[in-house]
Amino acid sequence: MKRGSFKKTILITGGAGFIGSHLVRHLVKRYPDYMIINLDKLTYAGNLSNLKDVEHCANYRFVRGDIVDQPFVSDLFDQIPLDGVIHLAAESHVDRSIVSPDDFIRTNITGTFNLLHAAKTHWHGTTGGKLFYHVSTDEVYGTLGPEGSFTEQSPYDPRSPYSASKASSDHLVRAYFHTYGLPVTLSNCSNNFGPFQFPEKLIPLVINNIRNMKPIPVYGKGENVRDWLYVEDHVAAIDLLFHQGRRGQTYNIGGGNEWRNIDLVRLICRLSDGILGRTPGSSEKLITFVTDRPGHDLRYAIDAGKLRKELGWSPAREFEKALDATIRWYLENDEWLNSVTSGEYQKYYTEQYSGLKKDSSGE
Ligand code: NAD
Ligand code: TYD
Repeated sequence: MKRGSFKKTILITGGAGFIGSHLVRHLVKRYPDYMIINLDKLTYAGNLSNLKDVEHCANYRFVRGDIVDQPFVSDLFDQIPLDGVIHLAAESHVDRSIVSPDDFIRTNITGTFNLLHAAKTHWHGTTGGKLFYHVSTDEVYGTLGPEGSFTEQSPYDPRSPYSASKASSDHLVRAYFHTYGLPVTLSNCSNNFGPFQFPEKLIPLVINNIRNMKPIPVYGKGENVRDWLYVEDHVAAIDLLFHQGRRGQTYNIGGGNEWRNIDLVRLICRLSDGILGRTPGSSEKLITFVTDRPGHDLRYAIDAGKLRKELGWSPAREFEKALDATIRWYLENDEWLNSVTSGEYQKYYTEQYSGLKKDSSGE
């Protein structure tokens, strides 16, 4: 790669995943003078077909590798002089973290440490203009009651192996800022939705089950609340923060868009019936209340006031329109859905849901 021909070289970790692939596409197209390097292990959640439209771009390169592999990470920093890292690679699904937390500890904690260590070592003395941007989640703050929202000052109180491992990674990133002066910025975002999300997460799972006329599993009574943000709005915030966020600072990102799970699932059913031309109410019949997730956080809500005040960000998409477009995308891209739900997904789905009992208390 001819470094001289690009203004910046940026490493995106986890760029073949859901949010990462939207971010890579956005940066490759918006900044033709940046070289975007996508480092991804291609776990079950990583899929290069998410990036078909940019794979031949001159300012894009894919590197397959594992951030847990310390010598590999160090070699990569040796070989490619990087101006910035945007770190998204993670094990990201709460249910999987409950069943097998090991990979969450390795990737989310050790992997983040390896990247921080390599950045510190390789950027030593030359940190001007460089940035390690860490992408995190609102789940590190724990769970809310019916009132209030998470601010950047909310105490950390993670309650699942996923959120605990992300919280650990956030602490490490801040430690590298305070102890070694590594230039860092962090953001903690609420639940994302949009195309290319692996159908183990609520919204694509519900759409996939409606498509296949399969039961829609709703945990507990469906009363848990999440704050949903369209993925492109998250990507726009990351772009803004990467370029204008203050060093050493954390920014909350969220949609200001709270939904009880059951209400969201009913909305998806209604929109899907319309799109598929099914009798109104037919998808709702698939809703099945099942045993609750252990340690299920009741409510997340984000106060994104700091980002709004400092940089003028707010979500650009109207929620119902973005949800409708998302449902249409999954239904039109059945080849993508079929490919990611074959093989390993079937095994996961059977293991995750066959043991859950029907819970009639939510009906
Ligand atoms: P995802 O699971 O869709 O993608 C994760 C990507 O990381 C995959 O491409 C996977 O192959 C890669 N990866 C996993 N382990 C790796 C390793 N050891 N080495 C290299 N690559 C590895 O996740 P996502 O939903 O796109 O989330 C991306 C980031 O955003 C995560 O850090 C997550 O914690 C954070 N986040 C997600 C949400 C959300 O709603 N999805 C909300 C807030 C924050
Ligand atoms: P999920 O998409 O896994 O995101 P997170 O747990 O990180 O918020 O789940 C969103 C909400 O939907 C959460 O309250 C759990 C619930 N849920 C179900 O009720 N049924 C399901 O099959 C899944 C995957 C999630």
